[in-house]
Amino acid sequence: MTYASKAIIDETAAYLASRTRIRPEVGLILGSGLGVLGDELDDSVTIPYADIPHFPMSTVEGHAGELVLGRLQGRQVALMRGRFHMYEGYEAERTTLPIRVMKALGVKTLLVTNAAGGINLGYEPGDLMVISDHLNLTGRNPLAGPNDNALGVRFPDMSEAYSRRLREVVKSTASELGFAVKEGIYAGLLGPNYETPAEICMLRTLGADAVGMSTVSEVIVARHSGIEVMGISCISNMAAGILDQPLSHEEVMETSEKVKERFISLVMAVLPKM
Ligand code: HPA
Repeated sequence: MTYASKAIIDETAAYLASRTRIRPEVGLILGSGLGVLGDELDDSVTIPYADIPHFPMSTVEGHAGELVLGRLQGRQVALMRGRFHMYEGYEAERTTLPIRVMKALGVKTLLVTNAAGGINLGYEPGDLMVISDHLNLTGRNPLAGPNDNALGVRFPDMSEAYSRRLREVVKSTASELGFAVKEGIYAGLLGPNYETPAEICMLRTLGADAVGMSTVSEVIVARHSGIEVMGISCISNMAAGILDQPLSHEEVMETSEKVKERFISLVMAVLPKM
């Protein structure tokens, strides 16, 4: 069975449309510890992933596992609190079903966020990084297999995966709010182990500024679907081998907790301009 089939996408979208009058134009995917934004929506309905046909379950701590549909800053949004990862054992195509469904519901712009390890030595934990581009090093691709031309072209262009326009919007909005954001390249790996110091050296040589275990498949599917994308990483820790200390999911969650106010104010200010 393929999860990128029109029948499955339409059935899932029809279920969500039956639960609310909200017709989202903006999609938000909130990474580890960043889900608090879901509390800010008006006229909202919250639907656990377990209730949504064909959705997998979110198994990671810090990922609530629910879709919130509602209004935020005058925009109708579909907000994912928690996402699906390939390291949970799901196929790339299945982890990205929500993006196909968002497209079917009318989403035109997607904000993807994540927690990531800082590779660039000029970064520090707590920094926010606008994603300028990515390296798909997961060894997987959600578009592998037969292509349905109704969903997108066989060979989608990725030369501006992360919209230049939206990158400028995020940077200028941050400076209006009085803080600077970094801008850099996100390397997406399969996980679930954190990288070795040697792998981090390799990734730095390859041009990566940050590393994580999500996002790249979602962005590939969004671009295939013709959705404009912007990405923000929260640098939750320095990547392996940079500091003389082990990495842990607790540290990732703690840093996300510390930056959440700045992150929320940035997203709220960016939304009307998306
Ligand atoms: N590596 C990979 N994924 C991550 C990291 C990291 O250091 N921090 C948060 N997600």
